[in-house]
Amino acid sequence: MKILITGNMGYVGPALSAHLRRTMPNAELIGVDTGLFAHCLTEENLPERLLDRQVFADVRELPQSLFEGVDAVVHLAAVSNDPMGGRFEAVTDEINHRATLKTAALAAKAGVSTFVFASSCSMYGFAEGGAKRETDGLNPLTAYARSKVAAEAGLADISRETGLRVSAMRFSTACGFSGRTRLDLVLNDFVASALTSGKVSVLSDGTPWRPLIHVNDMARAIEWAIERDGEQFLAVNVGTDSWNYQVHELAEAVARSIPGTGVEINRDAPPDRRSYKVDFNLYRSLAPAHQPKVTLADAVEDLKRGLTAFGLRDANYRTSNLVRLNVLSARIATGALGADLSFAKFGDSEAEMRQRSVA
Ligand SMILES: NC(=O)c1ccc[n+]([C@@H]2O[C@H](COP(=O)([O-])OP(=O)(O)OC[C@H]3O[C@@H](n4cnc5c(N)ncnc54)[C@H](O)[C@@H]3O)[C@@H](O)[C@H]2O)c1
Repeated sequence: MKILITGNMGYVGPALSAHLRRTMPNAELIGVDTGLFAHCLTEENLPERLLDRQVFADVRELPQSLFEGVDAVVHLAAVSNDPMGGRFEAVTDEINHRATLKTAALAAKAGVSTFVFASSCSMYGFAEGGAKRETDGLNPLTAYARSKVAAEAGLADISRETGLRVSAMRFSTACGFSGRTRLDLVLNDFVASALTSGKVSVLSDGTPWRPLIHVNDMARAIEWAIERDGEQFLAVNVGTDSWNYQVHELAEAVARSIPGTGVEINRDAPPDRRSYKVDFNLYRSLAPAHQPKVTLADAVEDLKRGLTAFGLRDANYRTSNLVRLNVLSARIATGALGADLSFAKFGDSEAEMRQRSVA
């Protein structure tokens, strides 16, 4: 089996590469990434060592030839959160929506059978009245969430028109340690805060609901989607009912696991516009053998171990390159990256180098 993973050099990609290498040892794994966060490593070993090939390319302009002989595409490449989506609104639509459809169309044309799309539960936005099912109305409140909604709609059309099997995996918010751990995700941020300052500061009043999933469990879900039969187009919430937490519960769990941690909740904060509880029954019925396994306590322990080994000590980590938006801002400020988040515009040796594939 030949599997192409776009956006493999981010946070989820390293966990996915390790998982697929373990569970599908004979598969040919090819990564495709522009390398925006290539230098933001949080462990010693380069995650890409597990792949058969790494291609440096922008998903907005992939060549048809890249898809030849490919069986499955896992499409992770994206501008991956609300703050980045807010700062780069048009580019977020270009990469997350339009380039996703372009990639799927190229895949379908090449005869790829399966396309796994990293979608997001954030498309439920502010959801009152119980846990949201896939058939419930969507309420995307941000450019990031809107880009995922638009991508799913376009993918459903491509799937119907071409027969490409598409799995839109509406992932919960990720957490846990990976080869390129991000600290701009709620649980990761809380653990980093507890380790570096002995306290967790909850910026909201702590009441919003936020379903979570560990990156390793995301990888197991993607493995399931690569191999699944059944419906041609599927949009499914990926997570587990027991991981529907309110933000204050996450802070309290971190405080329990890291003794001496204080919790500060901003009771006067205006209500958070994003709060959603999600129903995971469909995923439970479809993928009983690939249900999330990691517990919240294990996830905190995993982050604590990983971040300690990495040597995280700076309480100002929110200004570091472990926060994705900081990296983009810094690269644009130095001129290394264009405002359209493209390296290729520069036409210099770096751009040329990035176009080449390296074994
Ligand atoms: N992390 C989460 O909580 C979460 C939750 C739900 C869904 N998702 C989705 O999962 C996917 C992976 O998330 P992540 O946390 O690993 O994000 P990340 O930001 O760490 O990684 C994204 C990767 O995509 C690459 N990329 C961005 N634009 C590109 C382009 N134009 N061409 C080629 N590569 C490009 C980046 O270089 C980066 O390596 C994203 O689609 C994200 O929306 C993530």
